[in-house]
Amino acid sequence: MTADRDPAHPPRTPSRPRPIVAIDGPAGAGKSTVAREVARALGYVLVDTGALYRAVALAAHLRGTSRDDGAAIEALAMDLVAKRALTMQARAGQTPTLVLDGVVRTDELRTPDISQGASVVSRYPGVREALLDLQRSFGREGGVVLEGRDIGTVVFPDAEVKFFLTATDERRARRRHAELTDRGVASNFEDVLREVRERDERDAARDVAPMRAAEDAVVLDSSERTVAEVVAVICAAARKNERSD
Ligand code: DC
Repeated sequence: MTADRDPAHPPRTPSRPRPIVAIDGPAGAGKSTVAREVARALGYVLVDTGALYRAVALAAHLRGTSRDDGAAIEALAMDLVAKRALTMQARAGQTPTLVLDGVVRTDELRTPDISQGASVVSRYPGVREALLDLQRSFGREGGVVLEGRDIGTVVFPDAEVKFFLTATDERRARRRHAELTDRGVASNFEDVLREVRERDERDAARDVAPMRAAEDAVVLDSSERTVAEVVAVICAAARKNERSD
């Protein structure tokens, strides 16, 4: 289904007072900005699921565990979750903070190396399994915006509102490059473009929960729309699924 044919999902029989909004899509499609603005406009809780995969990659780096050692990474992810060493503090209308080993991590999670690392560790089934309940625990009650790769297909296949944001490779790489420059991280456009493509191929090709649009997701190409337009479309779909009682 495309946005042009049907910009909003038909409202389902609402079981939650406020819907779960799933925003999936490839790196650099503008998911983070859009998800943040949507959550703020609706007063919903925002959950950045990529940060959880990034945190596993960062934890592996800090502990000297090779990201190519699948069994060790799976054991690490399970241990982090079981011991609550990996948590996310998410409050309505606010940007979530990720806490690893009792420390709030923000910039450390956003380096190009950790981006690639997150994509590598997210291939391991045990890692996805370890993070599944954690992601579900944030969203079950509704009134939440989750952004990721498999929210509409695996984490919340029953989400009332599902969007899949895309944009051309160049547009996405340009956005990532600008973000890195803004944060004072030196990068070169060609490298960013190559990394974005590598990451997408890996994320879309993995065996477990590959990145793809759910059959009932609205696919939106953000290259042709402003952030405000995309946010307005998603907010309208969410409001249609809010129960007024
Ligand atoms: O959204 P992000 O760039 O922060 O995600 C980092 C990586 O984490 C991404 O390349 C793949 C993985 N990921 C995933 O497999 N499933 C998700 N729901 C979110 C992210």
